[in-house]
Amino acid sequence: MALETGTIPGPCGRRAPGRSADCAPGPDIPRKQGGTVNNARSQSAGYTAGIEPVRESGVAAGWAPARVAADAVRPADERACAVLQVSGLSTVYPTTRGDVQAVRGVDLTLGEGDVLAIVGESGCGKSACLLSIMRLVPHPGRIVAGSIMFVGRDLMSLSAREMREVRGRDIAMVFQDPMTTLNPAFRVGDQIAESLRVHGFLPGLPASLTRRSRVRQREMVIELMRQVGIPSPETRHLEYPHQFSGGMQQRVLIATALACRPKILLADEPTTALDVTIQAQVLDLMREINETTGTAIVLVTHDLAIAAEFCREVAVMYAGQIVEQGPIDAVLEDPVHPYTRGLLRSIPRLGERKPLTPIMGEVPDLAALGPGCSFAPRCDVRRPCCDISQPELVAVDGRRLVRCHARRD
Ligand SMILES: Nc1ncnc2c1ncn2[C@@H]1O[C@H](COP(=O)(O)OP(=O)(O)O)[C@@H](O)[C@H]1O
Ligand code: SF4
Ligand SMILES: [Mg+2]
Repeated sequence: MALETGTIPGPCGRRAPGRSADCAPGPDIPRKQGGTVNNARSQSAGYTAGIEPVRESGVAAGWAPARVAADAVRPADERACAVLQVSGLSTVYPTTRGDVQAVRGVDLTLGEGDVLAIVGESGCGKSACLLSIMRLVPHPGRIVAGSIMFVGRDLMSLSAREMREVRGRDIAMVFQDPMTTLNPAFRVGDQIAESLRVHGFLPGLPASLTRRSRVRQREMVIELMRQVGIPSPETRHLEYPHQFSGGMQQRVLIATALACRPKILLADEPTTALDVTIQAQVLDLMREINETTGTAIVLVTHDLAIAAEFCREVAVMYAGQIVEQGPIDAVLEDPVHPYTRGLLRSIPRLGERKPLTPIMGEVPDLAALGPGCSFAPRCDVRRPCCDISQPELVAVDGRRLVRCHARRD
């Protein structure tokens, strides 16, 4: 939904310029002094040495992004080269309890080479958001509102066949659970090759390949496996998923996702199943890909430390909505939304011996949301108006967006 910066609804729910006394942004949100953020970049250039499939590039002529809330803090020249513009995206899952509102009016803008983290507790709608962008929401779930523009094409208007072409070639996704994503009946090398073949980087069906094409396919698959750090790819490309550890399976998925050099990589908790050292390697690999190929990345994680290490921008999601979004250093060092502050209070910091303070309560039932702020039952700075009207996402300090009646301007 398009939002007017500086315009919030009053307690009665009407949108009015300025703000009511009840909901006035006040100085009562304590400003947190956070630590510095490590945005160290990988120096390795190993990824560039690999295969480079030929593909189209550039932004389509006539690309005219719709106005969204993020525009308020994003300069016009950056918006003009957006590869992905999501506006007012809403997705529901019908259940016997009612419609679960998994995604509620999400706006996102992603430029070439951008790296965005989406963080939030389990059940906040992070995966549903990525699945919606890929138009892979499982039945009976459905997208009920919004537009998804990919370099000038409205993905919502594409047929199922056209959408299959976009998936993998233009936008690829790495899912949370590699074991259920890989097909246990096929060799991993064949599964990587399949992605190359479907999108025209390899000719013909496997049975019709010439000897030369077979050799080329093998070389490309081995090179991709090597790039994602799978040891002995010359032999391992012939193995089946169950012969790989969880970490190695995730690398196979990343290799499959990157096979066609997509413009956007959506990664849904790609390192959750991995141990810490492998986690760092996978993140380094993704960073390298971003730096050398300009692939924009959306990384979904519940781990703020990973977001701080890896991303330049962060969107904090709660109950299907973005509640705070901005540069990662600004959000982590000086969070404005009470939920962001709560998240930061509940994670340990190196060198600090203070007890952790978890956010009390639980994520609300998304099938039974009330009229007010969904964070209200857990909020320590709640106001009377918070139970009556939904806060809008508005620009704060010129650098970020915040959805809170008690925000400061
Ligand atoms: N297939 C489904 N049917 C019904 N509800 C679902 C389904 N998938 C997800 N949900 C609900 O949608 C909400 C968002 O889920 P999800 O996007 O998976 O959250 P996250 O990835 O942030 O943990 C949750 O309340 C979840 O229970
Ligand atoms: S209840 Fe919601 S709108 Fe009200 S102060 Fe807390 S986070 Fe902000
Ligand atoms: Mg998830």
